[in-house]
Order: sequence, then structure tokens, then C-alpha cells
Amino acid sequence: MTAEIARAVAMLKQGALVAFPTETVYGLGADATNPKAIKRLYEVKGRPADHPVIVHFADAQAAFAWAREVPDAARALAARFWPGPLTLILKRSALAKDFVTGGQDTVGLRVPSHPVAQELLRQFGGGIAAPSANRFGLVSPTTAAHVREDLGGEVDLVLEGGPSEVGIESTIVDLSGGAAVLLRPGGISRMQLEKILPVREKDASAPRHSGGLERHYAPRTPTRMVPSHDLDKQISILKERIAVLAFSRPDERVDYWLRMPRDPAAYAQKLYAALRELDAAGCEEILVEAPPEEPAWAAVQDRLRRACSMARP
Ligand code: TXA
Ligand code: MG
Repeated sequence: MTAEIARAVAMLKQGALVAFPTETVYGLGADATNPKAIKRLYEVKGRPADHPVIVHFADAQAAFAWAREVPDAARALAARFWPGPLTLILKRSALAKDFVTGGQDTVGLRVPSHPVAQELLRQFGGGIAAPSANRFGLVSPTTAAHVREDLGGEVDLVLEGGPSEVGIESTIVDLSGGAAVLLRPGGISRMQLEKILPVREKDASAPRHSGGLERHYAPRTPTRMVPSHDLDKQISILKERIAVLAFSRPDERVDYWLRMPRDPAAYAQKLYAALRELDAAGCEEILVEAPPEEPAWAAVQDRLRRACSMARP
């Protein structure tokens, strides 16, 4: 792996796109100071140019050099959760150019914990811009094979790192406006954050971010959430071929059934691979048994709601 990482570093320095594992999802990486590389990154992702990307670093010191103000709240969250599945939005320093911030005056900073990501960032020495390595609006990849399926020949190198442990994207906290605002629930729960500081839910004034679009993280097959008590009834009335993601045991009337764990972290870890598998099953609809309406399920609920939204990206 070390030789492979050295190769990845050399390629990144030349402006190549390198997909790499993180503990949340796989990222599509490019040198965050190279405008040509970032331009290609956006093209391959199919992402609008005014959407900012997260910049990844080996440690907090390297990350904070990209911020012109580092509030105590940022230091406290970094000390507790980095390396790990947390992204901080801070006012940018001169290092963060318009082509990574989408022209905004803030920058998204993250220090991932995955050992391959850590080694890559350490050897690279600078910031690696990386959105999730899927096409815009579709389900994020949690294995190297997912990346190859989605982006195939358009990525110059895909580093292997096994299935991502967290399975859904990082929690994004905006600290650029004083109070901490939760922009995207994710790998770190709101309860965990609130042990360090009070966190507000985002409102209409929050900066735009693509994870906030109504339909995002979505399979191609129409997908619908169904309350547990209604699942059996829905299965009995539907005539078409359906696929089901549920907590309970498979029902023989259903063509494709995936059973999910009752623990939210274990569920999150499996979620995107499960949605991909159900999407590939060639059914006309995917039914998802709704998880409990509890704070511990907030990040999973968020991704499922978006997967089930019919509005186009
Ligand atoms: O777990 C993750 O965060 C993964 C891995 C690869 O690190 N990355 C990821 O990146 O999910 P992406 O680009 O798919 O989602 C990043 C989100 C987007 O919704 C983007 O708009 C938002 O972060 N974002 C980035 N910079 C921002 C900024 N300056 N202000 C507000 N939102 C920002
Ligand atoms: Mg994404």
C-alpha cells in the first residue's frame, strides 16, 4: 500500500484525480491548489461550479492554515473529533481559492481518520479537495468497486481501503457566523457535538451546499419510505416487482429483500451499499421501512428522506 500511496501522491502533484477511502465514504481527490485539477474534478462529478468542495488535511494544524479565523469552538470540536467524520466550515484564508469554495468566503475543512487517507494526506503534505466519488446527486460510494462502477475510466487511480466504516458522509458544522450551525447530520451525532457546545439547526440563511438539495443520495429506482405498521399492507397491494429494505424478515411475496440492522451506526454503515444493490435489482419500486423517529437515527433519516424524494437534483 505504501508504494501505491507514493504513486498517488506523485499523480496528485501532477494534477491527476485520485479516489481514496475515508471512514465515511470514498472521496474523489485533487490537489486543492490546482485550478485545472479542480476543474476536471467538477466535470467528472457532474457538479455545478458554484458548489464548494471539502478540503482534507492530515491534521488540524494543516487544516486551520486554510482558515483566517479559528474560533475556540473550532479548536474544541477539532480536539475532540479530528481525525474523524466531522467537517468544519470556517472563514477562508488566502490559501482557499474561489475554485474550491465555489466563490464563497468560507471553506469546508476535514481531517479524516481512515489510515489510507491519513497516509495519503501526510505524504502529500497539503490539502486534497474531495467530494464523494459518485456522480452528482447519486448514492455515495463506500467501496473502491462502487467508485469504479460510477466513475470508471475517468478517475486516474482508485486507492483500496475496504468498506467505509461509518458509511454515510461527515457531519458538517458551520462556525463561520459565530454560533455553531448543523448543516448536514452525519458520522458525528448532534448529541456528541452538544457535549462540547450548543448547536443550532440550519435555517434559510445557511450557506448553500449540495447535500442540502432536496433530492440527493438517491437511487435511480423510485424509492418510498413506509411506516413499519404499513409495510405488510403496501406489499400486499403492490402489483409490480418491488424491492424492500427492512428490519424484519423477508416476505416471500417480495422479489428482492434486504434486512437491515436495528442499530443506527450499523445501519448507516450498510445503507449505501444496500441502496445500490436494490437499485441494481431491476425492480419498479423500492420500499424502505422507516427507522425510528429518534435522535440517534437523524443522519440515517436524513439520507433516506433524500433518497425517497422525487424532486430532481
Ligand atoms: O464525508 C464526507 O464529507 C465526504 C468524504 C469524501 O470526506 N465528502 C463529501 O463531500 O461528502 P461532498 O462534496 O459530496 O459533500 C460536501 C458538502 C456539500 O454539500 C458542500 O456543498 C458542502 O459540503 N460544503 C463544502 N464547503 C462548504 C462551504 N464552504 N460552505 C457550506 N457548505 C460547504
Ligand atoms: Mg456527495
